[in-house]
Amino acid sequence: MNFETDIFTVFDKKWALLTAGKKDDFNTMTISWGGMGTLWGKPVVTSYVRTSRYTHEFLDKNEFFTVSFYPEEYKKTLGILGSKSGRDIDKMHIEGLTAEVVGDSISFKEAEITLLCRKLCLQPIDPKNMNPDIAQQFYSADAPHDMYIGEVVDIIRK
Ligand SMILES: Cc1cc2nc3c(=O)[nH]c(=O)nc-3n(C[C@H](O)[C@H](O)[C@H](O)COP(=O)(O)O)c2cc1C
Repeated sequence: MNFETDIFTVFDKKWALLTAGKKDDFNTMTISWGGMGTLWGKPVVTSYVRTSRYTHEFLDKNEFFTVSFYPEEYKKTLGILGSKSGRDIDKMHIEGLTAEVVGDSISFKEAEITLLCRKLCLQPIDPKNMNPDIAQQFYSADAPHDMYIGEVVDIIRK
């Protein structure tokens, strides 16, 4: 496996798609919070998903998920996938994106890089345990985040 990147900007500036499900039943959403590192002796990706997201249901139902990164020209599409819910639009057939099976999960052919992840841990993040300023800013009106930690089992580079 080989994936060189600036981990402090790749989520924040480039954004990514977090996708879970099977070929005919999956959902995807844009993420810009996340991390990569080492845990339990494994290469891991950590993502933070509000419990209100439709994608959350797919993450819970499936052992695998993908995190995929796209060329700059897909930013508008990522903006749509990050502002509309799969409960309201069909995210399995988004113009400009072609779903493809990756291992036991789903990504899109247009991705530059896809990280195939096996779910290792789901950990709710309790606003009661946070710095009060953060809790107030991010959780007074919105659902809390769950942290999903996935082992990176494959890296698919186009
Ligand atoms: C740039 C960007 C980054 C986002 N990052 C996250 C994130 O890290 N975690 C999260 O829960 N929502 C994030 N969102 C919001 C979700 O992508 C958005 O609510 C989406 O519509 C959820 O889709 P779903 O209901 O189909 O799962 C982000 C949105 C944008 C535009």
